Amino acid sequence: MASRTSWHCCLMAFFLLSSTACAQLSTSFYATSCPTLQIVVRAAVLRALLAERRMGASLVRLFFHDCFVLGCDASILLDDVPGGLVGEKTAFPNVNSVRGYEVIDQIKSTVELLCPGVVSCADITALAARDSTFLLGGPTWAVPLGRRDSTTASLSAANNDLPGPGENLAKLISDFGNKGLSARDMTALSGAHTIGFSQCQNFRAHIYNDTNIDPAFAALRRGNCPATSGNGDSNLAPFDLQTPLGFDNAYYRNLLARRGLLHSDQELFNGGSQDALVQQYSSNPALFFNDFAAAMIKMGNINPLTGTSGQIRRNCRVVNSS
Ligand code: HEM
Ligand SMILES: *[C@@H]1O[C@H](CO)[C@@H](O)[C@H](O)[C@H]1NC(C)=O
Repeated sequence: MASRTSWHCCLMAFFLLSSTACAQLSTSFYATSCPTLQIVVRAAVLRALLAERRMGASLVRLFFHDCFVLGCDASILLDDVPGGLVGEKTAFPNVNSVRGYEVIDQIKSTVELLCPGVVSCADITALAARDSTFLLGGPTWAVPLGRRDSTTASLSAANNDLPGPGENLAKLISDFGNKGLSARDMTALSGAHTIGFSQCQNFRAHIYNDTNIDPAFAALRRGNCPATSGNGDSNLAPFDLQTPLGFDNAYYRNLLARRGLLHSDQELFNGGSQDALVQQYSSNPALFFNDFAAAMIKMGNINPLTGTSGQIRRNCRVVNSS
C-alpha cells in the first residue's frame, strides 16, 4: 500500500506531469516475504567477484542498461524467442558487450528456492549493482525495492535511448534528461567508469583523432587498438589505468589529466558545464560517493512496474506463460 509520502509524491507527480517521481518502491518491500534475500544476493555477488573481479563492473552496467530502456523492469534479461518476442540483447550497445546474465540467473534460482514466485528479476539486478559497487570499494545504499518484471522488451528503445561513446556533452545531458536525470546525476553516474573495460571499437576514434587527450595516454592505448576498423575491435582497455577494478574517484582525476578513455568521458571535462563538478569529485571522494549513491537510487526509480503491473518472472530470461 502507498505510504503517505508516496501519496504526496504521486500527487506532486500528477501536477508536474512526471512519470518517474511516483515509484512507490520501499527498502523493506521483502522484509517479511523474503527476509534472506539481501544475504543471498550479497553472497552470490561476492562469489562471482571472487571468480572474476570484472563481473562487478559488468553488473553495475547491466542495471544501467536495464533502467534506461523502458525503465528498471528486467526487460534487458529477456532472451529472443524465435518467431516471437524480440529482446534487447542484440541491440548495438548490448550485443557482445553486456555481461552478467548468468550471475543474475544463478541468484534468481537460489532466491526461487527460498521465496518462490516473490522476488522480481528487476530487484535482483538492482541489488546486484549495489553489492558490486560496495564490494569493489565504493559506497553502499539501501535499495528501494518492489519493482516487477516486464512482459515485453524493446530493441529499438535499447538502440535509441542508451548513450553512445561518440556523444558530446549536450547529447549526454539530453539522454539523461529524457530519463528524468540531471546533468549532475549524469556526471556522478559516469563515475562508474572508474571500474571495468571498454573494447577498442568504442574508443578508437578518441585515441586517434581527438586532440583533447594526453599524448602519452593516447600512445599507450593505441598500442593495443589498431587504427583500422576491423582490426582488434574487441581488444580491451581499462577505463581507469591505475585502479581498473577499484571503485574510487580516479575516473575524475584521469579526466583532469585528459586521460578519459571514451570521447564521451572526456566531454565531461572539456571546457563545459561539468568541469567544476569533475574538479570537485576529483578532490572529494566522499562527495562523489554520496552523489553516486543518490543518483543510483534515482536511476533505479525510472518507470518501475509496481502493484499489479507486469509479473514476477520465474526465469529471468522468459516471460511466464501462465
Ligand atoms: C554517460 C554515458 C555513457 C556512455 C556513452 C557509456 C558507454 C560505455 C561503453 C562504450 C562501454 C564499453 C562497452 C564495451 O566496449 O563493450 C561502457 C562500459 C561500462 N559502463 Fe558505461 N557508458 C555511460 C554511462 C554509464 C553509466 C551511467 C554506468 C553505470 C552507472 C556505466 C557503467 C559502465 C561500466 C561499469 C562499464 C564496464 C563494464 C565491463 O567491464 O563489463 N556507464 N560504457
Ligand atoms: C579519423 O578521421 C579521419 C578523417 O575524418 C577518418 O578518415 C578516419 O577514419 C578517422 N580515424 C579513426 C580511427 O576514427
